[in-house]
Amino acid sequence: MLETVSQASDFIVINDIDVTYGEGEDEVLAVKGASMTISEGEFVAVVGPSGCGKSTILKVVSGLHRVSRGSAKVEGEEVVRPTKICGMAFQNATLLPWRTALDNVLLSLEISPATEAQFRGRKAEFREMALEILALVGLKDFASKYPWELSGGMQQRVSLSRALIHKPRMLLLDEPFGALDAFTREDLWNVLQKLWFELRPTVILVTHDLREAVYLADTVYVFSPRPGRVLSRTPIDIPRPRSLETTFEPGFQDLVNGLRTQIQRPAS
Ligand SMILES: Nc1ncnc2c1ncn2[C@@H]1O[C@H](COP(=O)(O)OP(=O)(O)O)[C@@H](O)[C@H]1O
Ligand SMILES: [Mg+2]
Repeated sequence: MLETVSQASDFIVINDIDVTYGEGEDEVLAVKGASMTISEGEFVAVVGPSGCGKSTILKVVSGLHRVSRGSAKVEGEEVVRPTKICGMAFQNATLLPWRTALDNVLLSLEISPATEAQFRGRKAEFREMALEILALVGLKDFASKYPWELSGGMQQRVSLSRALIHKPRMLLLDEPFGALDAFTREDLWNVLQKLWFELRPTVILVTHDLREAVYLADTVYVFSPRPGRVLSRTPIDIPRPRSLETTFEPGFQDLVNGLRTQIQRPAS
């Protein structure tokens, strides 16, 4: 079992949690005895076979689902309700089709409890913030385009911008690039690396892609098939910034292969 030693810089501490869904005969044990300790500003990737509880970990950390045993703390406080300090993005960009890229990014300020009341009064300032982040993801000239005018990769850039516009301290990403082709995905790795450098949120990235995990993360957790347990925690000591050349280096490939040997397939 991995030991959990609490330190001042620990931002997210998950200690020996079980997570279940349903009740009685329908009860499903999704995660069993998992522990993770994540520092402020750390970039963590979670990998493991389908159904092993990766998305469940994000739900626990964001307060959308409670643990049934153990504890999950953010900044020393037990997570008991949906947290306001996190931005999220998913495999589908889920943009509103009738809103431009800019207005999709602004949406998160419009509906966030922290900024909702000020939205009208500070609209010009918020607009500047949205344009700034769209420029950071390379969409400066696409702010007035509608989702259907954007490629899948561009839509995902808008989705990342929307997740980060309010400069959340925590960014939770659930297979955000899973639906993109390999080349677009690699472009997005660089976009995400840049965003993380600029804004330094604590990131948990759930991904199926081991190269993506090694490219982006400081630490990679491998989960077992359901019920998800932490099989290993691998620090990635490759210098940053990482580039596509990095992926051809033997050290990179060794890390990817090392992770691959740990992934267990669920019995089928
Ligand atoms: N709302 C739910 N009700 C019942 N079972 C669920 C629910 N959400 C997830 N599960 C089950 O919990 C397990 C873990 O789910 P999930 O965290 O989504 O896995 P992953 O993201 O690793 O694919 C899966 O077997 C899934 O079927
Ligand atoms: Mg999932």
